[in-house]
Amino acid sequence: MSIITDLTRMWLTRSTKPFTFYNEYDETLSFGECENLGLYVHIPFCEKICNFCPYCKEVYAKEKCDKYIDALLQEIRMMGSQYPDKKEVTSLYFGGGTPALAVERLAEIISTLQEYFIITEGIGLELHPRNVNVEMLTKLKAAGITKISIGIQSFQQKYQDILGRDVVDIETMAAALAQVEFETVSMDFIFALPNQTYLDLKSDIELAFSHGANHVAIYPFIDFTFTSSKVKVMEKKEKRKLLDEITNYCMEQGYYRSSIWTFSSEKDANYSSMTRENFLGFGCSATTLLREQFKINTFSVEEYCKRIAEQKLATSLTIRFTKRQRMIYFLFWTAYSTKVDSRDFERFFGTSLQKMYGFELWLAKRLGFVNEENGVYEMTLKGAFYYHYYENFYTLAYIDKMWGIMRKEAFPEKIEL
Ligand SMILES: C[S@@+](CC[C@H](N)C(=O)[O-])C[C@H]1O[C@@H](n2cnc3c(N)ncnc32)[C@H](O)[C@@H]1O
Ligand code: SF4
Repeated sequence: MSIITDLTRMWLTRSTKPFTFYNEYDETLSFGECENLGLYVHIPFCEKICNFCPYCKEVYAKEKCDKYIDALLQEIRMMGSQYPDKKEVTSLYFGGGTPALAVERLAEIISTLQEYFIITEGIGLELHPRNVNVEMLTKLKAAGITKISIGIQSFQQKYQDILGRDVVDIETMAAALAQVEFETVSMDFIFALPNQTYLDLKSDIELAFSHGANHVAIYPFIDFTFTSSKVKVMEKKEKRKLLDEITNYCMEQGYYRSSIWTFSSEKDANYSSMTRENFLGFGCSATTLLREQFKINTFSVEEYCKRIAEQKLATSLTIRFTKRQRMIYFLFWTAYSTKVDSRDFERFFGTSLQKMYGFELWLAKRLGFVNEENGVYEMTLKGAFYYHYYENFYTLAYIDKMWGIMRKEAFPEKIEL
């Protein structure tokens, strides 16, 4: 499997040089010069741990969470004060874990960020369905949250059972969502579960849009090697059929495809922390992508707090890009939106996309993966499936390996991908 990702990497970066992450970091980060900068804050606590979930998280305990947030505020101050002016950023997303568990301290985190950053496109936060009630939503809104994302996974008991999750009380959730409004209400689903059919998935999406959502995310199930999940992965052909059917259904309904696996019923509803050119991440396991480097914080809550107490950033690993490596990162992340505008590439790199990847674009067009209009390359249905498929390889070859190591070692020496 990793042969495919290795060969693709060598081809696209025109080099045999692997992506190498070293246990080193810069105390000062050059985010001041970045355009389209997004912010991400990781809250690594959940009430109950799901056995399929790869993210960095621990069981919630108030004292531990408070200590973590004290360190988080310190990290924000350390990073934010590196730039003399207030830096304009696009969005702020809280991910996890289950960041709604830190609701009482959200206003404090947001106001600390606002001492250094001007957020122009709203603030998003993830929550578990059991947290969706009027009291919680009111508190989130008062803290400044404008977009929420609820991890439904499936409304059907058989799939909740497979995933070991509780059945969602859909009517209570919908009543709360009707009382407290947000710009975007997104619901997450996992697809390609054993024997899952198009009708199962279609019913989930219909229920979501009729019960308060204006945006849905449909993630393919990924079987990470380090999780204890026993869920079987769906076969490629079956998965493709399911993905095509559900995409066609969403298009026929007139939903907008805002990214590779998200659809919205209103044009302005969006929820994505991934499709940014640059981002700053705060907290355990949070990643930062800048013009010349990508860095990832330690996965250990304890070591994170220790490092910050020593007035040092909690970076565990850093990769310094070659120009082609950065181009691949740029294309990979912006392709999540299903579109790549050659003008954005040119603005970012000062060279034309056609000049750097003319052959690949020609090939992608010939193979029916993309259509081009006026310098904008848009994925076809076939292209979206293969992107999905390749992303799966990438996740298993790169993210699985990296996260697998980082869960065990707070500061590994080096990781080569
Ligand atoms: C951080 S969780 C969402 C918030 C909240 N903790 C919850 O579970 O409701 C982010 C999302 O990742 C997706 N996810 C988690 N593990 C996955 C896996 N193994 N394969 C595919 N998607 C997964 C789920 O859809 C989940 O809602
Ligand atoms: S899926 Fe959500 S609730 Fe479950 S362990 Fe992952 S982050 Fe926590």
